[in-house]
Amino acid sequence: MFHMGWFVGQGFSANGWTDFWAGNRVNTWMKPDLYMDLGRAMERSGFDYMMLEDASLIPDTFNGSMETYLKYGMSAPKNDPVTLVPLVGHVTSRLGIIATITTSFYHPFMAARLMSSLDHITDGRVGANLVTAHSPRGAQNYGRPALAEHDTRYRMAREWVQVADQLWNSWEDGAVLGDLETPRLVDHTKVHTIDFEGEFFSSRGPLNTIPSPQRRPVICQAGGSPAGREFAAEVADTIIAGGKSVEAMKSYRDDITERMLRFGRNPTDCKVLMTANPVLGETNEEAREKKRRQQAENDDKLDYFLAALSYTTAIDMGKFDLDAPLPDGLTTDGAQSILTDIQRIANGRTLREIAIGPKDADSALFVGTPDAVASMMGDIIDESGADGFLLGNPIDRRSVSEITDGLMPALQRRGLVRDHYEHALFRDNLLAF
Ligand SMILES: Cc1cc2nc3c(=O)[nH]c(=O)nc-3n(C[C@H](O)[C@H](O)[C@H](O)COP(=O)(O)O)c2cc1C
Repeated sequence: MFHMGWFVGQGFSANGWTDFWAGNRVNTWMKPDLYMDLGRAMERSGFDYMMLEDASLIPDTFNGSMETYLKYGMSAPKNDPVTLVPLVGHVTSRLGIIATITTSFYHPFMAARLMSSLDHITDGRVGANLVTAHSPRGAQNYGRPALAEHDTRYRMAREWVQVADQLWNSWEDGAVLGDLETPRLVDHTKVHTIDFEGEFFSSRGPLNTIPSPQRRPVICQAGGSPAGREFAAEVADTIIAGGKSVEAMKSYRDDITERMLRFGRNPTDCKVLMTANPVLGETNEEAREKKRRQQAENDDKLDYFLAALSYTTAIDMGKFDLDAPLPDGLTTDGAQSILTDIQRIANGRTLREIAIGPKDADSALFVGTPDAVASMMGDIIDESGADGFLLGNPIDRRSVSEITDGLMPALQRRGLVRDHYEHALFRDNLLAF
């Protein structure tokens, strides 16, 4: 069996508001209902987790303006996804819920306390997607002129996790007495300061709340660069990565396995999920036609693609000639592996050619009937050694139904995904197989 997650890829936003089956998204996106419906459907069909993307800025990298981003409702406007965790938790009982937290702006004490609180509220089903952030605009919203340099951000993130871990462990087992007779709620001799003084953070501790059901939330990570992979291999319970091709998936999983062994970790203690965007139809031909239509719609939105790429790479793609090859030697302090992927695909092609047409071998995968796609997924897990898939499908009720009432039952019939939850806690379910 393998694991399944769903990436709410533009977080708690209006994303998809013009789509055919978006409902009245323009007036309702800022409400939690869609995500609560998604959570219920995901749990009904055996998913491990919902992962909520986040960033705290309105991008303006493309052409130096917010125009394209705000025109499309792309990456903004966006509410804080942490607010969704208790609400989705309230209508589910087993699904894991991962919210994105940045180690560059959240102080570890603040995040450790928030995550413990959410873990209590959800009965042990919370996770944190730890990102280092990749846009200076986010830093400026928190009063800093710029982000730290790329690899330094990952060094900060490692120290951040050390502080958070010490806070989560600042209460010994048995500290909470709840003795009504004495009366004595907590044994103060089992609660300790941490007195952490590091290169980037300091914190006295202890955490001012009791250990939560998981004690440490599930840690999720998505770094693609060597520094990002190293951080992920050291701390993560689940890693999410771009599933470019079967070979790329295999080499990614092998690399994480090797790094985990170096950290003295058991490689099966971290589940590596590969991104996938299945396109489903009642016949294979219908699914292929749908894929062709989606591709044509994307090709009409050149500025959308360039704005998205500008945001993640922190390079203004608007300053390059669309009909000339992507300039050689570009480097970034933003999301490095995304720029490397585009450089690999570019291969002498013009920016317009890169923007139009399939970006990856992945585009050819997972198109067909639910049964055909289920079979493909099983084969790819066998060949790649990956631990599962992270779907990035649109969040509308029709798309949710296609996945949770079509694809997931097809996977269950093949015995490839769970048909019931083995445990109560998120991490235990993640590690169940
Ligand atoms: C599936 C997936 C989800 C991601 N979610 C977020 C997110 O919510 N917020 C964010 O700032 N970055 C997000 N990222 C970007 C990563 O944090 C990171 O910047 C990117 O993978 C490049 O990492 P690298 O610089 O180590 O190559 C995501 C990346 C992937 C592949």
